[in-house]
Amino acid sequence: MVLVGIGPGNPEYASVRAVEVIKSSKRVFAFKRVAESIGGLNRVECIQNLEDLLKIEGDYTLVVSGDPLLYSAADFLKRNNVKIDEIIPSISCFQYMLSKIQKNWEDASFLSFHGKNPDWTKVKNPGITIVFTDLQNTPDKISRTLFQKGFKGKIYVGFNLSYDDEIILEKIIGDEIENLSDLSLVVVEICG
Ligand SMILES: C[S@@+](CC[C@H](N)C(=O)[O-])C[C@H]1O[C@@H](n2cnc3c(N)ncnc32)[C@H](O)[C@@H]1O
Repeated sequence: MVLVGIGPGNPEYASVRAVEVIKSSKRVFAFKRVAESIGGLNRVECIQNLEDLLKIEGDYTLVVSGDPLLYSAADFLKRNNVKIDEIIPSISCFQYMLSKIQKNWEDASFLSFHGKNPDWTKVKNPGITIVFTDLQNTPDKISRTLFQKGFKGKIYVGFNLSYDDEIILEKIIGDEIENLSDLSLVVVEICG
């Protein structure tokens, strides 16, 4: 199997190689959002969860968002002894977002809510922290939690990054943040 990342969502940000492989694959699987994004490139079969892949026989391509090695499917596939012949990356949603707000990220810290409690001690102080949200841990909840923990600085929120309805907000930590979409990425900037 081949694991392909398509970037934040809009196929314009997918790497040339990612698009080529999707187009030439005999069988392509993806979750709903990604399947909708790449629908113009090939016929795509939707999966509900990664376990669905364990029943598939023969060669196939799994297409995921962003970079497949960042909070994505590669770990699950390896743990379940699925042989990955090639991993083809595109840019991650966080790279896209940091380009939009023009911030360097070489010293950044990463926090994710996916399947785990975040380690708030990892918030870079001073510095940039990238936070991957989920349905429970919204940008508003993150803003309030950071404020309660005494962090001071800015919080940027990218909703639906790279799509036509993308919105990027710049707020102060502690501000109320309207949940404009379930798909969001948070960048925290603590000044020294
Ligand atoms: C499981 S992580 C996968 C990240 C992906 N591997 C990457 O490199 O971008 C999914 C999280 O990334 C963020 N995300 C992915 N695409 C996004 C987009 N287009 N706009 C806003 N946030 C996005 C959201 O926080 C979402 O919950």
